[in-house]
Amino acid sequence: MQAIVLVGGEGTRLRPLTYGTPKPMVPIVNVPFLARTLERLYAAEIRDVILAAGYMPQAIVDYFGDGSQLDMKVTYVIEETPLGTAGAIKNVEEHITGPFFVLNGDILTSLDLRAMRQYHHEKGGIGTLHLIRVDDPSPFGCVVHDEAGRVSRFVEKPPKGEEPTNEINAGTYLLEREILDYIPPNKNVSIERETFPQVIAAGKALYAHTTGDYWLDLGRPEQYLAAHRDVLNGTMPLAVEPGLSGDGSEALRGHPGVIAPVHAAADVVVDASAKVGPNVVLGRGCSIGTNAVVRESVLWERVSVGAGAFIEEAILASGVTVGPKAHVSKGSVIGHDVSVEPGAVLEPGARLGSAPP
Ligand code: GDD
Ligand code: MG
Repeated sequence: MQAIVLVGGEGTRLRPLTYGTPKPMVPIVNVPFLARTLERLYAAEIRDVILAAGYMPQAIVDYFGDGSQLDMKVTYVIEETPLGTAGAIKNVEEHITGPFFVLNGDILTSLDLRAMRQYHHEKGGIGTLHLIRVDDPSPFGCVVHDEAGRVSRFVEKPPKGEEPTNEINAGTYLLEREILDYIPPNKNVSIERETFPQVIAAGKALYAHTTGDYWLDLGRPEQYLAAHRDVLNGTMPLAVEPGLSGDGSEALRGHPGVIAPVHAAADVVVDASAKVGPNVVLGRGCSIGTNAVVRESVLWERVSVGAGAFIEEAILASGVTVGPKAHVSKGSVIGHDVSVEPGAVLEPGARLGSAPP
């Protein structure tokens, strides 16, 4: 079985993080998110993966190579200009040999892919869509279906108040090759706005596979932090130990200022007077100075936090320096290698960091 992972988006809602790192390589508890996705595919016995990429593909290629280190086959198809979610699938047609999974590259979920495959075989449609129920469906694709699961409407991002259902497209499809006949080649096509509605209009059967799984789209900073909280507290099952975890956690054991859950990579230094946690991830080589406080935050690699600094509900990319006594307020997102001046007080939701020249 094959899987296509759509990883061509620019990750605009995660800027400035995605100026230096493409969205699929943004780390979830210190491991690139796409690596977590490939682990999930591997666990479902899917070894043949096609990455439809476009934005900053080199970072992805450098990390995964041909996939042999993961015992997988990874094929890259790079778009010169974005082809959209269906155009990207059509663009890899020559590599597709049979029924195939399609995964939006920014979804963290506990979905059982094998159970979905089973359901798809039983239903026998041209495609099966994973759905979940949400309180606010407006930012997503709404999918209307009958009791047998047969889809009658697909409405992408309806205006608030006009959502036909609270069951939404959760971004995992299992499709038959035949669906490729509905996508014109070499042009930008949206599977949500064009292909699915056209397939339904043509009388072809799409089925809904609604589950109660853990599910989150990582596309925005609040969700990125929520995902970390959920992984650290075990709500989202991922290979992370509860409490204190990570290669750098031994050095923190017994530290009076560390409040679990905290995940620390190797070579992390936390001053004896600092307070770290709960729900903090420290990437490799981070250092936390005297009396500094870091809570509910994700720090990538080599982040240096000066004496007396305060950081809450923030995301700090690799190489960030926070000067002594600086205050990084809730919702702040700080891009690669930015220095926060000593004593600076950031506005809540601050974005620091600019596009590379
Ligand atoms: N290769 C390629 N080319 N990939 C693309 C392109 C493209 O032109 N455009 C988007 N993608 C990838 C993104 O990288 C992402 O992994 C996925 O396709 C979905 O794009 P998003 O930009 O994240 O879409 P969304 O989150 O607004 O909406 C989609 O996901 C929702 C669930 O999170 C839709 O599929 C909705 O229907 C769905 O509910
Ligand atoms: Mg998304």
